[in-house]
Order: sequence, then C-alpha cells, then structure tokens
Amino acid sequence: MLRLLSTRAAPVVATGAVGAWAAVTTQNDDWDEYFPPQPASTDRERIVILGSGWGGLNALKKCGGEGKDITIVSPRPHFLYTPLLAGSAVGTTTLRSVCEPIRAVIENSWTTDAKFIRADARAIDAAKKTVSLKTGDGDANLELPYDKLVIAVGAQPNTFGIPGVQENALFLKEAEDSAKLHARLLSNLERAAAAIACGECNQVVDALLTVVVVGGGPTGVELCAELADFRKDDIERRYGREVADRFRIVLAEAMPRVLGPFDPQLADLARTHLETRGVEVREKCAVTGVTADAVTYQPSLPRGATAEQKKAAAAESKTEKVGALVWAAGIGARPVVKKLAQQLGQGENARGLKVDDRLQVLGADGVFAIGDCALSGNAPTAQVAAQQGKYVGRAIRDRSTDPFQYKHAGSLCCLGFGNAIAQLQPQHQAWRSLHSAANTKVVGEDQRAVTGAPAFALWRGMYFTQLLSPSTRWSVSADWIRTSLKGRDVNEPVLKRTMTPAESE
Ligand code: FAD
Ligand code: NAI
Repeated sequence: MLRLLSTRAAPVVATGAVGAWAAVTTQNDDWDEYFPPQPASTDRERIVILGSGWGGLNALKKCGGEGKDITIVSPRPHFLYTPLLAGSAVGTTTLRSVCEPIRAVIENSWTTDAKFIRADARAIDAAKKTVSLKTGDGDANLELPYDKLVIAVGAQPNTFGIPGVQENALFLKEAEDSAKLHARLLSNLERAAAAIACGECNQVVDALLTVVVVGGGPTGVELCAELADFRKDDIERRYGREVADRFRIVLAEAMPRVLGPFDPQLADLARTHLETRGVEVREKCAVTGVTADAVTYQPSLPRGATAEQKKAAAAESKTEKVGALVWAAGIGARPVVKKLAQQLGQGENARGLKVDDRLQVLGADGVFAIGDCALSGNAPTAQVAAQQGKYVGRAIRDRSTDPFQYKHAGSLCCLGFGNAIAQLQPQHQAWRSLHSAANTKVVGEDQRAVTGAPAFALWRGMYFTQLLSPSTRWSVSADWIRTSLKGRDVNEPVLKRTMTPAESE
C-alpha cells in the first residue's frame, strides 16, 4: 500500500501541484514575484508610492529589488477589495474580509521590504521632487523626497455640486462608507420594526424603509442587487413580513439606461432582473437635491437643454422622504491630483493627471500616475489599475521604456446570489474555442456574453482567486458559508449606540 502510494500517487500529486502552480502563476502574469530578476543597476533610488489601492499595491509588488528604498504612503492602512464592498454593506461579507492590512502585505511579500507611512499626500512639488504629507488634521506637515513617484491615489465620489449631497448622502467608496450604510440600514429596520410592533404603520415608517441608490453604474446596480437579496433572505425572517413588504429599493439613473459601459442587451437584462427582484428602476431620472431625510428628482435633461426644457423638467420635479440615500453617481479627482494638474498647467479643474504612453505624468520628471487618478484613456476599473501598477513597477525595476498596453479581459456585474452578467473578451485561442463550443452570445466587437448562474460562478470564482492572501480567502469563504446557512450579519455596531439620556426618560 505504502509502495503504491509512493510510486503512483506521489508523482501524480506532485505533477498536479506543480502544474497548478505553473498555471496559476502564468495566468496571473506574476512569475517575477517568484523569481525576481536582477536590477539593471545598484544605485540607490528612493521610490515613493502614493496610495494603497489596486494600482499602488501592484506597483509595490513589482518595483522591489536591490538598491530600492520604497515607501508607500496612504491614509488607508489597508488594501480595500472593492468588488466585495457592496456585499459588506448588507452583511454578506464582513469588512474584515475585504480589508487587507498593508503592513501584513509588506511582511508577506517575497520581493519588497517597503516602509509604510499612514498619511495623506496634500501637495506634490514636482520641481523639488518632494511630497508634503499630513498624518492628521492638527499635525505638522512632513516632507518626503523621492527620485521616482507613483501617484495611485484613486478618485473620490463626485457630487457634481448638487445641493445637500456632501452633507446628507451615504457613499460606497471606502470601508467606512460601507460600515455607515450597514449601520443606517440596521438602525432604520429596528426603528421601523419597533413602530410597526406598536401599531404605528405610518409615513414615517415608509420613509425609514425606503433606500434610494443614485447612479445606475456597476456600483449602484451591484448594491441594489445585494439589497434585494438582503430583503428576500434576511429582512422577512428577522424583522417580520410587514417590515419586508414595506422595504423599498429605488435605483435612480439619469441616463436612458443603466450600466452604460455594458452592451445594451446585457444592461436591459440586468434592469429586468432587478425589477423582478422588486427594485424600482427609474431611468432618465436625475437627482437634483438631497436633504437629511428627502430626495428630489426630475426628468433628466439632454446636453445643451433649452430654458423651456429646463422649466418643463423642473415642473415635474418630485420630492420623496427616504431613510437612506446612497450616492453612487460616479467619481472625480482628489484635491492633491487637481493641485498637481494645476501646478503643471494641465487645467484648472482637471479630472485626473494627463500621462504619456508610459504612464509618466506630462511635465513632471520621474512621476507616474496610474489607476483612477490618471487620464490614460482606459476606464477607471480595478483591472486597469492593477495592470498599470504592474507595468509601472516593472518599468521602475527594469528601467524599461516599452509603452503600456492594456489587455481587457472583460467586465462582470453581479446581480445578486446566483445571477450576474459577464461581457468577456477572450484573449487566447483556447478561450475563444471554448466560447464557440459553449455557443455563448456574441456582443460588441469580438466579445462574448455569459449570463445567469454561469456568470455568477465566474464572478465569484474570479474575485475569490484574486483576493490577496489565504487569510482573506478563509474569511470570505467563512462569510459566504455563514450567509448561505445562517443569513447575513445583522449586528449593529456596538460603539454606535447611545443610551437614552436620563432626563428624557
Ligand atoms: P484605489 O483602489 O481607490 O486606491 C487609492 C488609494 O489611494 C487608497 O488606498 C487611498 O486611501 C489612497 N489615497 C487617497 N488619497 C490619498 C492621498 N492624498 N495621499 C496618499 N494616498 C491617498 N473595478 C473592477 O474592475 N471590478 C469590480 O468589480 C469593481 N468593483 C467596484 C465596486 C465598488 C463598490 C467600487 C467603489 C469600485 C469598484 N471597482 C471595480 C472600481 C475599482 O475599485 C477602482 O477602479 C480601483 O479601486 C482603482 O484603483 P486605484 O489604485 O486607482 O484607486
Ligand atoms: P459610473 O460613473 O459608472 O456610474 C454612475 C452613474 O450615475 C452614471 O450612469 C450616471 O449617469 C449616473 N448619475 C450621475 N449623476 C446622476 C444624478 N444626479 N442622478 C441620477 N443618476 C446620476 O460610477 P460607478 O458605478 O461608481 O463606477 C465607477 C467605476 O468603477 C466604473 O469604471 C465602473 O466600471 C467601475 N466599477 C466596476 C464594477 C464591476 O466591474 N463589477 C463594479 C463597480 C464599479
């Protein structure tokens, strides 16, 4: 038996393991993390990376080597796994699962021993080659010199100056946004359940149970899908039928259709699916104002609308009471990016930093910009930021000058448990043949559509394998199993609750 194991099973297992490892590393284009090449020169070089997101972290993993002093600066001491953020807002996953501490990433890296500074870059002096940092509002400015600078600070929610949004809306961009949204949903559910239990089924309860999501891009659609799952699987069994029946999810999109970046047929399918799950999808509907407990909508206007069209739209404007309003209406440049763009003469109110085909910021020597903060001609997605991060890291490490080339693998959007849409761009012949064999639908130029359960499996599988560490993989697996068996996390944050003051009892 032992002999059989050692002669037959061991070689098979070993070959399988090596093959799987080779496949994974080749597929991920990450061989150089296992066998880092020798640097071209051993001159010491100070490399500063601003941002601990998709772009920054991928640059960090690739730029290490002899003679490199690498510092990563970010106010966020963790990497945020954005594809699972919408789920964390309703307790499908916990926040711990979607946040990877940067210090642990550095500790576990094979190729770099970078320093981490938890601070905000407030200004960049491209002439003096320094970055001005702040660790907290009252703290003094720190100055950090660099030889090479990678700007990967991402973007921030764009409010378009719409009154009341900044002060009253909830967002879905950072881990704390998700925590705030989760807490608001749970608090509103408790308040509504209490009122219903005491026989008070009034408009206040209806408002508490209305969630409006503004923006039918992928963020808004994925959040609505998670909210619909939450209502179906958890609200009824935990808060009661009456609460679940009154819980409304509204998605407001200013354009004629949701999911602008997707093929129209897939976007249509997503809208229909959301509607069958009870989401009220309002297209051509622009939000024009937000207060602490209400939202104002009106029919959206075409570009260059006449005064009469504006007047007619304003006449149809409606205000509705809401319990939570989530602003997912797109992104804009961060102040530090706008300041540098202005300093470099790239424009007063730039949407990002202009870069050349090697992702070098125009007019700033030794400075790269990647991801959502760069105007590179690619979409602001994790896929782009990760590829640009790897490219810039390698360019710094190997001093290579080849231009950046983006390889689009496709786009995925989760429509809730068991459903998704995928618009894929098969790069290799083997994948193209597989699609032909499976007879997947052709959409757009050279793209294939996968929908329903297979797309959901693809979405989960893809994003699960891209998690950074075994620790987050364990954590996400545990969350998904718990959610399937026992329901979503409905723990209200303990520190948030305040006792009723004695005098008002
Ligand atoms: P980020 O990942 O946002 O990282 C920016 C980093 O810079 C952060 O660490 C931040 O703290 C730091 N920073 C900010 N200001 C400063 C400063 N002043 N100084 C120093 N550091 C600073 N894309 C996909 O491709 N697939 C998806 O499924 C997907 N899902 C998403 C879901 C949600 C809810 C959201 C919001 C986005 C999603 N995206 C997805 C988009 C994707 O997350 C972004 O395109 C990606 O994060 C951009 O990477 P980045 O490195 O440019 O910026
Ligand atoms: P987005 O810019 O893609 O969508 C925002 C939507 O809000 C637009 O459709 C816009 O028309 C609408 N809008 C703007 N102002 C409005 C108003 N006043 N009233 C009503 N609607 C209004 O932003 P999103 O969804 O946050 O995505 C940002 C980036 O992140 C995109 O590049 C996206 O592809 C990427 N992303 C990708 C995901 C995925 O691949 N699954 C998931 C989430 C984000």
